[in-house]
Amino acid sequence: MDNFIFSNPTKLLFGKGQIDLLPKEVSRYGKKILLVYGGGSIKRNGIYDQVMEKLAEIDADVFELPGVEPNPRLSTVQKGIEICKREGIDFLLAVGGGSTIDCTKAIAIGAKTDIDVWDIIMKKESASDALPLGTILTLAATGSEMNAGSVITNWEIKEKHGWGSPLVYPKFSILDPTYTFSVPKDQTIYGIVDIMSHVFEHYFHLTSNTPMQDRFCESILQTVIETAPKLLEEPENYEYREVMMLSGTYALNGMVSVGLRGDWATHNLEHAVSAVHDIPHGGGLAILFPNWMKHVLDEENVDRFKQLAIRVFNVDPTGKADKEVALAGIEELRAFWNRIGAPSRLSDYDIGEDSLELMADKAVAVREQYGVFKKLDREDSLAILQASL
Ligand code: NZQ
Ligand code: ZN
Repeated sequence: MDNFIFSNPTKLLFGKGQIDLLPKEVSRYGKKILLVYGGGSIKRNGIYDQVMEKLAEIDADVFELPGVEPNPRLSTVQKGIEICKREGIDFLLAVGGGSTIDCTKAIAIGAKTDIDVWDIIMKKESASDALPLGTILTLAATGSEMNAGSVITNWEIKEKHGWGSPLVYPKFSILDPTYTFSVPKDQTIYGIVDIMSHVFEHYFHLTSNTPMQDRFCESILQTVIETAPKLLEEPENYEYREVMMLSGTYALNGMVSVGLRGDWATHNLEHAVSAVHDIPHGGGLAILFPNWMKHVLDEENVDRFKQLAIRVFNVDPTGKADKEVALAGIEELRAFWNRIGAPSRLSDYDIGEDSLELMADKAVAVREQYGVFKKLDREDSLAILQASL
């Protein structure tokens, strides 16, 4: 393992009815609240009314920023920063999925500085302060509810970048599985793919002696694979939703990846795809991940693929060469994602040959090479995109 320091300060309030604790949690930070949410799902499923009721208990002065886009945009972040500065907001409350939470994290940073928030996202400048934020999660997917990361799209220049700061760990996150009952089937599938993809990003690393981290990863994958089909059959089953919610949080809260550096190439490439085409993140990952796996698989790293195939996808290695076992595991992954209804080709989103070069350019816009398990350059990016058409 590599040396590490681990700290995750986010308090989780998990389970049915935990919204009751909202007034107590928020009142620690002040009265002027900016409520950040998306395109209106929280109004349709009643979560908005519950939140407003709870905030009224502490006479909170509530301002609102609705309309955060899936793949949240810099322009919306800037709107939020302006409200915070104008109104002297004390606390940010994100109610929604990863997009709403990520947007709120960027607002939290931008509200406390005169530096252009895009320069902070692009790591040209750094921040030294942030407004405190809390989240009420409505979609199991990104893990943003318990991590310090955020992904923002600058739509004018078609770039989407991840950034992070310990300053934007949510102070608390309310995870009520019933709040995810209304997530539509397609978004539930994208969430499942995203959760599994986060685990893959940790799993493919070059660090030696990580048996515990490997098995943590494998157990999340097995749990998700076991639960996903049942959940898609019964979207209002509390037990399936709670398992998926906890899986999503653990897949990217840092605990299973202590002491190693994960790969993250496929996420980088997917961000390039959604920067250009604005497709759902999980949909993009479902298309790209198996093709990334096939692209990077070689003699030297075959053991890791083999371990995944045997332990997670139950591939029988008897009489097979290592590479055959590895490839069978990748095929099992593709088959599983097909079975649950995830997309498998860029053409599923009407993305054709004509934008491949542009997406490959975007993938190396910040760094000429990316990925830890295997370094990829523009040519590799193009090859994976080509295989994904
Ligand atoms: O906008 P509303 O109306 O709320 O509808 C949303 C949105 O249309 C809907 N939804 C959410 N909860 C719902 C619901 N609909 C009905 N009932 C509910 N309970 O679902 C749609 C998608 O929401 P979004 O927040 O965009 O999804 P997700 O959580 O998958 O977030 C995706 C974003 O997170 C980034 C992605 O790149 C993408 O921009 N990521 C963030 C990460 C992080 N911060 O750690 C890591 C990830 O790898 C990822 O890159
Ligand atoms: Zn992701």
